[in-house]
Amino acid sequence: MLTGSKVGLRARHDDDLPILRTELFNDVVNAARADGSPWRPMAPGSTDPRLVVDDKNQSVVPFSVVELAGGMLVGTATLWGIDNHHRSAHIGLGLLPATRGKGYGTDVVSVLCYYGFAVRGLHRLQIETLVDNAGMLRAAERNGFVREGVLRSSAWVLGEFLDEVLLGLLVEDWQPDERD
Ligand SMILES: CC(C)(COP(=O)(O)OP(=O)(O)OC[C@H]1O[C@@H](n2cnc3c(N)ncnc32)[C@H](O)[C@@H]1OP(=O)(O)O)[C@@H](O)C(=O)NCCC(=O)NCCS
Repeated sequence: MLTGSKVGLRARHDDDLPILRTELFNDVVNAARADGSPWRPMAPGSTDPRLVVDDKNQSVVPFSVVELAGGMLVGTATLWGIDNHHRSAHIGLGLLPATRGKGYGTDVVSVLCYYGFAVRGLHRLQIETLVDNAGMLRAAERNGFVREGVLRSSAWVLGEFLDEVLLGLLVEDWQPDERD
């Protein structure tokens, strides 16, 4: 398991699936804001790749996020779009609603940076998020990500187009032990 100051990132367990399915992927608003595809209900037993890990897919590493104190499941974290030629990847995370706003998201980004830069030897990590996702923007910027651009009206979200912000962090700017 990878550990931060508050959370651990471990493999997906069978017990995680019903909780993640109900609280994250079957929540229309959450899924519509976090996923790049239209929401559709996820049935029990679904093998949707957001939920069930395909170990053969080398471009994605999905983690379940747990509280270090007690081990309770708090969400998902993903390194995706791993490109071993350009040595880059994207970061994604989704926390269960009751666990948001406690500093876990900031800690998850920190641990994903460690995984991407130290474990995988990547050079660049990237995050895309909706322009109104203040928590995600702050969690990224506290870990050193900088805003590199705005993708105007790039996301169709529940009846309107929203801008997305693109943030990046290069390994030479990564300061693993410091957060502003
Ligand atoms: C976005 C998300 C990952 C952030 O994680 P979190 O644990 O809630 O965020 P943190 O508690 O680490 O907060 C980070 C900072 O943002 C601020 N913040 C958090 N939620 C906020 C909100 N809704 N509005 C304004 N600021 C917020 C916190 O106060 C904190 O600021 P600080 O560093 O100055 O103290 C989490 O809320 C989540 O999973 N949301 C739903 C899914 C999602 O949006 N995923 C990202 C898709 S790209």
